[in-house]
Amino acid sequence: RHKIILDTDPGIDDAMAIAYAIAHPEIELLALTTIFGNVRTHEATRNALALLDHWGSDADVAEGEPAPVAMPGNEPSYLVHGRNGFGEIDIPASRRSKHALDAVDYIIEATRKFPGEIVLCAVGPVTNLARLLERDPDVVTRIKAVVVMGGAVHRKGNVTPMAEANFWNDPHAADRVLGAQWPLVLAPLDCTMPVVFTPDYMQALARESPGLGEPLAAMAEFYARFYRSHMGIGGCVPHDVMALSWLTVPGAFRLQKGALAVITNGPAIGQTLFQPGGTQSRARCFDGRPDHMVMVDTDPEMFLADYMMVMT
Ligand code: BDR
Ligand code: CA
Repeated sequence: RHKIILDTDPGIDDAMAIAYAIAHPEIELLALTTIFGNVRTHEATRNALALLDHWGSDADVAEGEPAPVAMPGNEPSYLVHGRNGFGEIDIPASRRSKHALDAVDYIIEATRKFPGEIVLCAVGPVTNLARLLERDPDVVTRIKAVVVMGGAVHRKGNVTPMAEANFWNDPHAADRVLGAQWPLVLAPLDCTMPVVFTPDYMQALARESPGLGEPLAAMAEFYARFYRSHMGIGGCVPHDVMALSWLTVPGAFRLQKGALAVITNGPAIGQTLFQPGGTQSRARCFDGRPDHMVMVDTDPEMFLADYMMVMT
């Protein structure tokens, strides 16, 4: 089983990923570590605890950084995910407390306890990961893999013409995380945007698996309103779960190898830069950077069939 720590800012598509992690027989969800983005960090912690309780998981919740590494924080995405992060759907508050360790120390401890076994899946701004590299540089030797949902490689952004939301919310952290020497897979908008959860699909999910599916279908109605009005899409895009599906249905994705960087100032702040692997003369901004794997396309049918199967 994959031992997973999911770093998250729940968030509607975050909730869709959390449900999948709980339901999947091949995933052992050790913890949710929280971050700002869709909501503020303390709200992400509240939401993470509430979802785990609601779905009967005793995974830990460790709270992450309150602000980006090198700039003031942007306003949370309440417009997209609702004021409570769940499209105004009520998930009862948990009576459990967050873990005594903060997110970064939690990950350090967990990778000491299970060296070479932990996959860190980050589906929000990667501030906690940047701080992790700073606090314990050796962590790169103990982590099995890092999978990051963020960025836009061969396509446009979703917050500005260039920037995807997670990278835009902490571009300096994203640049450090993508430049680090650890085994990293990037799940950018290129692999998430081809997949749409239509209203029909969400209704089927709610019918087949009411416990997990009903709250998600209700949240998806709110989320889909944003996709309809801003992008003309008839449904919503479940970005975050793609970081988990990479482990559980790798055949659904097309990969490209290359070096990555993120622009940290100016009008293109948050833009992802990519240089395909094997390129003989590298642009200077990629100096010293390792090649990573990038999920550049998805087979939507295969992804959708797997999600439905795991959840029901
Ligand atoms: C990412 O931004 C957030 O709003 C979503 O939860 C996802 O992680 C998509 O750009
Ligand atoms: Ca997210």
